[in-house]
Amino acid sequence: MSKILVLDRGDTLAEQIRGLSDQFDEAPKITSCTRIGAVGEVLEEDGPFDVLVAGPSLGTRSGLARLRIISEELPEMRMVLAFSRRPDASLRDIVRTGAIDLLQLPVEDADIVESLERAASLARQVPEPSVIETLATPEPESLEPRPNRPGIVYTISSATGGCGKTFYATNLAWFLHKWTGKSVCIVDLDLQFGEVSTALRLRPKYTIFDALQREDADESDLQAHIEEYMVVHDTGVHVLAAPRDTSEADRITPPDVTRILEAVRNRFDYVLVDTPPALAETVLAAFDLSDLLYVMATLDLPSVRNMSVFLSTLDRLRIDTDNLRLVLNKAETDVGIDIDQVTKLFPQGFESILPYAKEVSRSINLGMPVMAASPDAEISRLMAGGMKLVLPGDLQAQITQETAPKKAGLRRLFGK
Ligand SMILES: Nc1ncnc2c1ncn2[C@@H]1O[C@H](COP(=O)(O)OP(=O)(O)OP(=O)(O)O)[C@@H](O)[C@H]1O
Ligand SMILES: [Mg+2]
Repeated sequence: MSKILVLDRGDTLAEQIRGLSDQFDEAPKITSCTRIGAVGEVLEEDGPFDVLVAGPSLGTRSGLARLRIISEELPEMRMVLAFSRRPDASLRDIVRTGAIDLLQLPVEDADIVESLERAASLARQVPEPSVIETLATPEPESLEPRPNRPGIVYTISSATGGCGKTFYATNLAWFLHKWTGKSVCIVDLDLQFGEVSTALRLRPKYTIFDALQREDADESDLQAHIEEYMVVHDTGVHVLAAPRDTSEADRITPPDVTRILEAVRNRFDYVLVDTPPALAETVLAAFDLSDLLYVMATLDLPSVRNMSVFLSTLDRLRIDTDNLRLVLNKAETDVGIDIDQVTKLFPQGFESILPYAKEVSRSINLGMPVMAASPDAEISRLMAGGMKLVLPGDLQAQITQETAPKKAGLRRLFGK
């Protein structure tokens, strides 16, 4: 009897497949997992499965990246994708999941049965390198820095203060620099109360304000000299600090922000923009130039509620939300809100759910990102698990291997 796991936020697809059991040569055992974050746990506890059927809620870039990690971990299991429309991801991301079939929903019963029978029979054979995998040439992914192209801009935002934006931005900067070896700069756009320098224990001589004061600075001049206004952390990460006082901050306009970010991204492979907890005009200017937008919340009602208002505002402002990543931080159990309830409110899913960790305060006191100061801490591993999804597959596999605890299991990979 073959074992099939259906992974989707709803139960509809699993129900349809269950209803077809008698049409299989031999009725399969069907398990449904509707909590995407718990898939590692289900694979470990109820597996091994012959076939994983991924439903439409996995049709996002991060969903496909997750499927890809699963198929790398469990090459014997066959994967079938059942999507209602072309997912918000490149064909290449789909191919790289290693799936052997793609069903278009709504799908005829006979097609599902035929596809799953075939997948189950292939699962019984010794895995061979997939032809598709071999054909996938190692050309750079869209989010990899390329020579002579502007760098990639990630903006970290939140609706409420103290969610961990500065914490996340400094760690992501370190992570990208460490694993890609590329140049990384954090621009502190929390103009009034920026704390990137404090979090990294830096003493900037100049700030973003000074860079904008250059006389007769045309764009190429600003670009040529922008690094002179930065301070470099021991890890090699560059920082363009926030102004020294609020009166300077008030004088920085959205077009100034655009100029600065254009200049920085022409000099750096990755640019991380830390922001204040508000949708200020200067923040919107950064959104316009961003390749990815992280939105953070903590596990408390005001923060979660405001995250939802924040996201609908982005929608109303017609800000491209395709490349949105949600991060839930300081997610402790026993605080009166259930993490599962919160995740259900956000269909796009959370890229990372991070616990409150004492190692963070220690790292701040050292002026180091926690991932550098305590690489073996649970929080560092969980962060790496989410952050690596923006990197190319071979690097992801290397990070998985090198950051895994000795007895790593899929449960760990997905933060459960
Ligand atoms: N997962 C965590 N565990 C423990 N402490 C954390 C965690 N995340 C952040 N912190 C701490 O919480 C405080 C607030 O974090 P941080 O300054 O990064 O938030 P922020 O969103 O940048 O705040 P603001 O909106 O004021 O800029 C900091 O002292 C930080 O070290
Ligand atoms: Mg901050």
